[in-house]
Amino acid sequence: MERLDKIISHAGKGTRKQVRALIKSGSVTVDGDLVSDPGFKIDPEHVKIEVDGELIYYTRYVYLMLNKPAGFITATEDTFHNTVLDLIDPEDRRKDIFPVGRLDKDTEGLLLLTNDGPLAHMLLAPRYKIPKKYCFETIEEIDKNSLSALLTGVDLGDYVATATSVRVLGSNNAELVIEEGKFHQVKRMCAAVGYTIIYLERTEFGPLLLDRKIPRGSYRYLTEKEIDVLREAVR
Ligand code: URA
Repeated sequence: MERLDKIISHAGKGTRKQVRALIKSGSVTVDGDLVSDPGFKIDPEHVKIEVDGELIYYTRYVYLMLNKPAGFITATEDTFHNTVLDLIDPEDRRKDIFPVGRLDKDTEGLLLLTNDGPLAHMLLAPRYKIPKKYCFETIEEIDKNSLSALLTGVDLGDYVATATSVRVLGSNNAELVIEEGKFHQVKRMCAAVGYTIIYLERTEFGPLLLDRKIPRGSYRYLTEKEIDVLREAVR
C-alpha cells in the first residue's frame, strides 16, 4: 500500500507538494471516487487513478542504463561532488532510484540504476556471481603472461581476487571479467601484477552490454527483454 500523493508524484505529475495541493483541490479520483486526502493509502497496481480525468500509469520499478562519465561519484547525494544522480532527469529521479553497485569516480561505462531494491540486492549478492567485464589501459606495456596470475588469484591482503577471464587487447589495453565487486578491485588486482591503470571502463554487467549508442553521461531505460534477462541472471 502506498500514499496517493507519492504515487501521483512518481508518475511525473509534480512535486509532492504540488500533488498534495492537486489532491486537496478535488482533481483526483480513485476508481471513480473523489479522494481529497493526499495520505490515502492504496495498492496502485489494482486501482484506476485519474487526475482531472487523465489516467495515471503506474510503473513500480524503473531500470536505467547509464553510460557513466569520469568525474561523478557513485552515490545518491554528496555535499562536495557531482553524483551519478545529477546525470538523471528530475522526472526519472522521482522514483527514488539508486545505483546498483559502485564505479570509482574516474571509472566510466555501464552503471545500472533502479528502484528495484530486491533485484539490486540479488545482483550484488556474492552467491549469484554476476560477471562484470572491464576494459582497461595501463601505463606499463602489458606482458601477456603476467596477466595469467589474475586467473589463478592474486592476494590483495584482505582477500584473494580472481578474474574468470582475461584478454589482452593491445600493448597497453586488456579486459577482464570478475564476479565479485570489491572496492577498487580491478585497479588493485592489476597493481598486484605490476600494472597501473590509467583508464577503466565497465563494458558488461551480467547479461547487459554497454549500449555504445548512449552518449557518455546519458542513459536510457532498459528494454523489457533486458529486464527479463537481468531477472533470469538471479534465478
Ligand atoms: N574496479 C575498480 O578498481 N574500480 C571500479 O570502478 C570498478 C572496479
